[in-house]
Amino acid sequence: ERSPIIAPSILASDFSRLGEEVRAIEGAADWVHVDVMDNHFVPNLTLGLPIVQSLRKATTIPFDVHLMITDPERWAPGYAEAGAYNVTFHAEACENPVALAKALRAAGAKAGLAIDRDTPVEPYLELLPYLDTVLIMTIKAGFGGQAFMPEMLAKVRDVRRRIAVGGLEVRVEVDGGIAADTIEQAAEAGADAFVAGTAVYGAADPAEAVRKLRALAAA
Ligand code: DX5
Ligand code: ZN
Repeated sequence: ERSPIIAPSILASDFSRLGEEVRAIEGAADWVHVDVMDNHFVPNLTLGLPIVQSLRKATTIPFDVHLMITDPERWAPGYAEAGAYNVTFHAEACENPVALAKALRAAGAKAGLAIDRDTPVEPYLELLPYLDTVLIMTIKAGFGGQAFMPEMLAKVRDVRRRIAVGGLEVRVEVDGGIAADTIEQAAEAGADAFVAGTAVYGAADPAEAVRKLRALAAA
């Protein structure tokens, strides 16, 4: 198993100081998780491409862009072109996930597929060879600060098992309610990338919170 990726979500940060907030976790975290919401796919609105382009110049940490938007075919490649390391779009919003994953890879990014709370993972297991990341929501997508749903870990196990059987190199990422008291069970189920918003940016020392989460995930 590869070493864990810790990806703080800037959704829980102070948006008026975005550059500083990202730099605060730069040396401690692996990726920064950027939640793009369009007030359509989810009932919440955050930020889009112009802010990602500006932020890209303010830090060296890889961007893990989580697109909670309708019509990802239209917008996702732009984030790859803006320098995102990994671009994840939602299965529920996409007609042809394989085509979009290929387009993202062609644009120079890793390709991720997100599975929301009410979506089963089985229909997507055959797509794993085309993906670099599978993001399993451990809440309903749309808002930070929700309670972790342990029943979602069955999906993590299913994906991890299929990756192992296929001998594939795909990250299994969990997003929602990840904190010191939930990260170990997610790691045990087979997750190897962990998004944490409130648990990092709600802490007095965000970089120290990242180090604590990493130690728990690696244990
Ligand atoms: C919610 C976002 C998450 C959010 C997680 O839809 O996808 O990335 O920031 O926040 P916490 O860690 O507070 O649950
Ligand atoms: Zn997210």
